[in-house]
Amino acid sequence: TRRITAPEIKSRKGATPIVALTSYHATTARIADEHADILLVGDSLGMVLYAMDSTLGVTLDMMIMHGKAVVRGSKKAMVVVDMPFGSYEESPEAAFRSASRVMQETGCGAVKLEGGVQMAGTIRFLTQRGIPVMAHIGLTPQSINTLGGFKTQGRDTALWPLIKADAQAVSEAGAFSVVIEGVVEPLAAEISREIAIPTIGIGGSRECDGQILVLEDMLGYNPKPPRFVKVYGAVGDAIDQAVKAYADDVRSRQFPGDENVYPLK
Ligand code: KIV
Ligand code: NA
Repeated sequence: TRRITAPEIKSRKGATPIVALTSYHATTARIADEHADILLVGDSLGMVLYAMDSTLGVTLDMMIMHGKAVVRGSKKAMVVVDMPFGSYEESPEAAFRSASRVMQETGCGAVKLEGGVQMAGTIRFLTQRGIPVMAHIGLTPQSINTLGGFKTQGRDTALWPLIKADAQAVSEAGAFSVVIEGVVEPLAAEISREIAIPTIGIGGSRECDGQILVLEDMLGYNPKPPRFVKVYGAVGDAIDQAVKAYADDVRSRQFPGDENVYPLK
């Protein structure tokens, strides 16, 4: 089977909703690949896997390692790898050097980067040189220090034109889709109606052309998930129960059983 491509995703504007999930390694990639159109190797891995308190400490080498694992673990979905903080903002040329490494070393189908109007030139530079780009606007976690925290965007309707301009700019620059994160619902809906490329919501709107969640959030690892998460599983509890059962078995010498050891004959 052939993987879903950037042009295929782009052509899904206003059609069947695009199903996207994050994946950071081969195990989750193999499972999510059965159901999702896009697997995003998000820089949220810094917080989810490495217990960082923001995404700013994630490096290009980390993204490449995890990107390779997700590409190897999947067959059908398009794999998109996040460009980490510091690897693309300086110039289109710097972005191309980083993004071409990501494409070459992981075999992914596209990269994602944060920013709207400011990044439009970079998005155009990359797409014109063979690198499909997914954009990311609204609450952009790599900018928490200038945004002042993980704050929902667009509560002040006077600022809607700025966010709309970001959406329009990335669309016109050639992005094949755009993540809209942490934006008030009516604004996410309006943007989805107004721009030509698919919008993928997370804390967006059901009018977005697709949705994305952090897999670990929807699986129920996070005891206090944010409002935009719908919890579909109790995997945190399942791990807790399994680990407790194992610990009890070891302490009571129930494990290993006869079936788990190698008899001489
Ligand atoms: O890093 C990430 O997981 C993301 C998604 C939440 C869109 O950028
Ligand atoms: Na991200």
